[in-house]
Amino acid sequence: MLADKRILLIIGGGIAAYKSLELIRLLRGQGASVVPVLTRAGAEFVTPLSVAALAGAPVHQDLFDLTTESEMGHIQLSRAADLVVVAPCTADLMARMSRGHADDLASTLLMATDKPVLIAPAMNVHMWSHPATQRNLATLIADGVAVTGPDTGDMACGEHGPGRMSEPGAILAAIEAALTSGPLTGKHVLVTSGPTHEPIDPVRYIANRSSGAQGTALAAALRDLGARVSFVTGPASVAPPYGVEVFRVETARQMLDAVTAALPADAAIFAAAVADWRVQSAATQKMKKQPGVLPALHFSENPDILATVSQGAQRPALVVGFAAETRDVVEHAQAKRTRKGCDWIVANDVSPETGIMGGQDNAVHLITANGVEDWPRMSKIDVAQRLARRIADALEAPA
Ligand code: C5P
Repeated sequence: MLADKRILLIIGGGIAAYKSLELIRLLRGQGASVVPVLTRAGAEFVTPLSVAALAGAPVHQDLFDLTTESEMGHIQLSRAADLVVVAPCTADLMARMSRGHADDLASTLLMATDKPVLIAPAMNVHMWSHPATQRNLATLIADGVAVTGPDTGDMACGEHGPGRMSEPGAILAAIEAALTSGPLTGKHVLVTSGPTHEPIDPVRYIANRSSGAQGTALAAALRDLGARVSFVTGPASVAPPYGVEVFRVETARQMLDAVTAALPADAAIFAAAVADWRVQSAATQKMKKQPGVLPALHFSENPDILATVSQGAQRPALVVGFAAETRDVVEHAQAKRTRKGCDWIVANDVSPETGIMGGQDNAVHLITANGVEDWPRMSKIDVAQRLARRIADALEAPA
């Protein structure tokens, strides 16, 4: 799979560095060559000797030790690779990368490279969830850095949660994906996901049961086919996928603004469960309970984001809507396709007995100009992968 590929592997200073030794072995087993770089902190966890022995190549450690530094050795080292991988990528390395530091060999290589970069973060759970790290992560993703992991589980420090470095096999898969261009490489796809929250007052809101699972799986599947994904999400209960640009919103109107700002796109997939109505003039102070007095809520209609984009000047070549129905699923969805002006509708029955809303599975009908396809019940991830492939086919050969 990776024959003749050259991986510049930067090993940062974390206990997970031991897993990078296994990663080197796996990479070489796939035919890749590994040029290892060990940071000063990395060398506290694994020895240069083990790294060099497994890589079958000398370890680079110091900016000014490169024998050819007079010939700009660090530039050459960073450019000769097909992919730069940072594993483990510590909180400190992420911070330095996001700010563009270049004061040691690893950071200088990362600044000088013109090749794609993949990081495998590894750190304590609180360090990972710290707003500073999450800010740095968002910056790195926006800069085009690919991210694999971290995993959730028991940590060497005795805590539990997200922060464990991905297993070597998963990093290998991410390396293969980063080096393979997919059918959506070069395409920009917009995905909306999750519910919206429509405020009643500063503490109360109207919501729905959407978990965001289907939209999230779809964004990940599109990313895996090489697309650049803009992911506009309401307050979902599942975390957004890695490797996509995330725009968090709460209300339908904010979602429309975020969608409009993210255009133009080659395709837009509207998987969000957007509230149809919002409370007219939501109270700015918490509404107080008064004995015997029940508040009356008056509603206004929310903008229909799917219809607005389908009929707008910046309409993507392919627009896909979702239709969650509890009866006459296909009939309603067919009417919706025409009314809203989108190309496809993915329709599903969300009656409580189906267990689809908030569940793992989905059973959908794909409604296009050519008719209706009934897909068998399958996991939301499988639905997403199948739909992503169809989207790739449609963008390759527009109808
Ligand atoms: O009209 P209905 O809500 O059934 O249509 C569902 C489709 O329309 C979904 O794709 C949903 O994301 C989108 N939608 C929207 N804006 C709304 C309501 C629904 O984009 N205000």
